[in-house]
Amino acid sequence: MVYHHKDSIRDVLEAYYKMNAPIGLVPTMGALHHGHLELIARSQAENAITIISIFVNPTQFDNAGDLEKYPRTLEQDVAMIKELAGNFIVFNPSPEHLYEDDVRSQSYDFGGIEKEMEGAHRTGHFDGVGTVLSLFFKALKPTNAYFGEKDFQQLQIVRKLVEIESLPVTIVGCPIVREESGLAMSSRNKRLNETELEEATLLHKTLLGATERFESHTIEELKKWAIHEFEKNPNIQLEYFEIAEADTLTSVSEKKKNTQYRVFLAAFVGPVRLIDNMALN
Ligand code: PAJ
Repeated sequence: MVYHHKDSIRDVLEAYYKMNAPIGLVPTMGALHHGHLELIARSQAENAITIISIFVNPTQFDNAGDLEKYPRTLEQDVAMIKELAGNFIVFNPSPEHLYEDDVRSQSYDFGGIEKEMEGAHRTGHFDGVGTVLSLFFKALKPTNAYFGEKDFQQLQIVRKLVEIESLPVTIVGCPIVREESGLAMSSRNKRLNETELEEATLLHKTLLGATERFESHTIEELKKWAIHEFEKNPNIQLEYFEIAEADTLTSVSEKKKNTQYRVFLAAFVGPVRLIDNMALN
């Protein structure tokens, strides 16, 4: 059920290609949680078979320590997927095999989306994401691929990638899954202690506060308010708080009519970097 080589997984997929049966792909870096499981369940409901890739992609990390500390829990991940009862296979290649011994990013022009927010703060991040997803799409030829709005900017980048490379795959975006506390589920939450888990709810609270204040405040006022909220807790460092157009992700300083906006933020809780976002209107 776990395949490490492209050829062996393609042997399994061959029957599905021949029957024209839909294949779903859920790309992940493992350390699965309920957010991932929602994507997998959705794919299982809509496809004859679902491939879950579990691959900590070295080319999308700009920080060697972060790459090294990324949790790796393959056996536990597979056990969680089995509980869903849908048809699945896992793809878990080594970096050298997937990249054919050239573990490097391609350089992409995604029309500017890659320069905002995560792109501005994590050098080369979206080149790494684009490169690995292009390799997966070409090797596995899925019909549908599932991504969470938790990484909303990544979702828009993937839509652009398949357009640029004319890849015959449908990209499906799925809502953010949260803990009861409001904290967006993330593999990185595993690195937080109990106090930090409680403190990290500030991210979600600030997003909610921004949606409540969106109509009555200017963007400048909202930013000032958000920065002030974060200054109250010295263990949390706000990296950015941006309000952007939902399609282009360009940050805005003034609201226009008939435009969809989202609020995005990134913050360090102790040493752990978390991101979250929410629709504003
Ligand atoms: P990873 O962080 O493991 O996330 C895999 C997928 O799960 C992404 O599409 C992400 O948006 C989604 N996801 C994570 N937390 C979620 C939540 N709380 N609710 C809904 N969806 C959630 O994102 C990556 O891996 C990598 O960049 C990858 C796309 C696999 C490329 O290496």
